[in-house]
Amino acid sequence: EGTSGVDLGKLLAKTGLVTLDSGFVNTASCSSAITYIDGDAGILRYRGYPIDQLAEKSTFLEVSYLLIYGELPTQAELDDFTHKISRHTLLHEDLKRFFDGFPRDAHPMPVLSSAVSALSTFYQDSLKPFDPEHVEISTIRLLAKLPTIAAYAYKKSVGQPFLYPDNSLGLVENFLRMTFGFPAETYELDQDMVRALDLLFILHADHEQNCSTSTVRLVGSSEANLFASISAGINALFGPLHGGANSAVLDMLVGIRDSGGDVDTFVKKVKNKEDGVKLMGFGHRVYKSYDPRAAIVKKTADDILGKLGGNDSLLDIAKQLEEHALADDYFVERKLYPNVDFYTGLIYRAMGFPTKFFTVLFALGRLPGWIAHWREMINDPATKIGRPRQVYTGHTERDFKAITER
Ligand code: ACO
Repeated sequence: EGTSGVDLGKLLAKTGLVTLDSGFVNTASCSSAITYIDGDAGILRYRGYPIDQLAEKSTFLEVSYLLIYGELPTQAELDDFTHKISRHTLLHEDLKRFFDGFPRDAHPMPVLSSAVSALSTFYQDSLKPFDPEHVEISTIRLLAKLPTIAAYAYKKSVGQPFLYPDNSLGLVENFLRMTFGFPAETYELDQDMVRALDLLFILHADHEQNCSTSTVRLVGSSEANLFASISAGINALFGPLHGGANSAVLDMLVGIRDSGGDVDTFVKKVKNKEDGVKLMGFGHRVYKSYDPRAAIVKKTADDILGKLGGNDSLLDIAKQLEEHALADDYFVERKLYPNVDFYTGLIYRAMGFPTKFFTVLFALGRLPGWIAHWREMINDPATKIGRPRQVYTGHTERDFKAITER
């Protein structure tokens, strides 16, 4: 079942030949035992466990433990992990002041990456990235503090006071309360919403060598610490072809609805590649069949929109788009199916999150995967600093001309 590979790099190094593989379509950069994907069969497993079983039976913290430490935790291990995380949710008061410096309309993704990068200045023990004790405490700090950072980015954008974490609550509950509690005492947690967000975090928790995870590994391969590497991963996730697609899907659905809801015309535009328009939330580098996460998200969207938001016209448009695309040769020939981002935005919207916050939620879910890969990388004796080659296409040698002669 595993993917076989030869270390072509080592073989070719002796010959002087270089492989050119734009976008690393068929080039492995590492060996990994964390996540298995069969893109043709639509299979995703974390540490061997099928995603649908984890989605149904597990919790986000349990899955985080599984990804990072390799095995499902015992009850005692999970309790200890949960307790440690709940003890580190506070942000240093000086770090909180960083939020004052950002404009109120700042996009929350650069706020998130900046605050994570700044953690290295507050926790200088993290600068010894290979010391196991420091790796462990940096792991716990990140898992604990990212929800607080994300909630503060939201609070800043709506001009409300920051709330201290309430560590009697679970991670997702605490995050929702810090985000939407105003005033905190009157905020009532909706358990359907808590479970749905926990499930979405599980579905996002890892996806092997995607753009952001590869970035985390590449930055970490220079022996940069965990905070610096994760901050870079957050920036990679920001782009609309990766995590930013969940916001882009909602903008697309709203655009279609506001121009009369004509799905046919939009699909024609996509097929004609007019103005580079794409069907956002469709297509995947690895999945050439239905993304198993998207199937679970679609079902969750039906359930949660029924409970939280009633019938949503945007959900109807999304379903019409999917129906059109799956019956259309353009999408069939190219094996383009909905990916995880296609339906998530509709759920986040029903929960009350603004569109530009959606990718932050993706980052919260992906964090344990990034950490697991960084830790796997630093412990792998085969790891070398990432340093791709290039095929040079510029001028050959030429003589310098004085500025008066150019
Ligand atoms: N809409 C319309 N056409 C598409 C789409 C799309 N969403 N995705 C791919 N295609 C077309 C391409 O134009 C290309 O057509 P061509 O053969 O006529 O040139 C063909 O399908 C192959 O596409 P590539 O761009 O080569 O596929 P690649 O693997 O490089 O890109 C990607 C994958 C970036 C995800 C792409 O499908 C895309 O841009 N999708 C929309 C953005 C998106 O949803 N991103 C989220 C990805 S999942 C994640 O990161 C969580």
